[in-house]
Amino acid sequence: MSLLDRHNLYERCTQTPERDVKLLRAIHGGTPRTLGEDFAGTAALSRAWVRLVRSGRAIATDHDGQPLAHARGIARLTCRVADVRAAHGGCDVIAAFNFSIGELHDRAALCAYLRRAHHRLPRGGIFACDLYGGSGAFRTGTLRERHALPDGARLEYSWEQRAADALTGRVVNALHFRVTPRRGRRVETLELRDAFVYDWRLWSLPELQEALREAGFTTTEVWSRFEHAVDGRGRVHPLRHRTGGELADDWCVFVVGRRR
Ligand SMILES: C[S@@+](CC[C@H](N)C(=O)[O-])C[C@H]1O[C@@H](n2cnc3c(N)ncnc32)[C@H](O)[C@@H]1O
Repeated sequence: MSLLDRHNLYERCTQTPERDVKLLRAIHGGTPRTLGEDFAGTAALSRAWVRLVRSGRAIATDHDGQPLAHARGIARLTCRVADVRAAHGGCDVIAAFNFSIGELHDRAALCAYLRRAHHRLPRGGIFACDLYGGSGAFRTGTLRERHALPDGARLEYSWEQRAADALTGRVVNALHFRVTPRRGRRVETLELRDAFVYDWRLWSLPELQEALREAGFTTTEVWSRFEHAVDGRGRVHPLRHRTGGELADDWCVFVVGRRR
């Protein structure tokens, strides 16, 4: 992937796959071997999984073959261009990250997908997706971050929540990038407005947990997306939320369904 490819910029700004592999394994609590990454995009999580998990395997599914092409030809990683509601192959962990569960806009589609996920898991297997919410979830606005690229260029990343309707639960999010070359380099600034635009349904925590139970998951859990401890041996210990009172005003969590 070239340095300025929009997928590469996306991965640098929005993903932490190695940390997420550790969190998923800790939340699973056993020794999961196979990951199913749904809504996989460039399959960054799957690529990290096969690197970090000894003899681990991953199946990455996305209905868009273009981002998935970045993950072809990697040992123990299978790429499938398909709708996630037709995803197949048994897995110990299924992950749907970067708020992709919001790609499913109505309850029928959500439940059909979760039933499929449940069917792919063995007893003890988990499904995990991330979700944001809280008092600012339906506010429009822009978050900005700065990153440095390996060649010294400056990367500015903006995440704009462009539209939000609490009545329907729908939000539109647009990601923009600007790359300013290192001083002295005769290269123009690269501006990528609307590099990615997402039209999501922002599910609530109770809606999502109810749908998981309806799909067959006997236990649902909520874990912090970002807060965790790391012990002296490098093992991560994620934080589980047991009551709504523990959530911040604006929160970001993993919602987990466990098959018993
Ligand atoms: C927000 S991106 C997430 C990419 C990646 N999971 C991540 O963590 O950054 C959502 C992805 O879901 C894919 N997608 C949306 N609806 C889908 C569906 N019904 N079946 C399969 N893929 C879908 C899109 O093509 C896109 O690559």
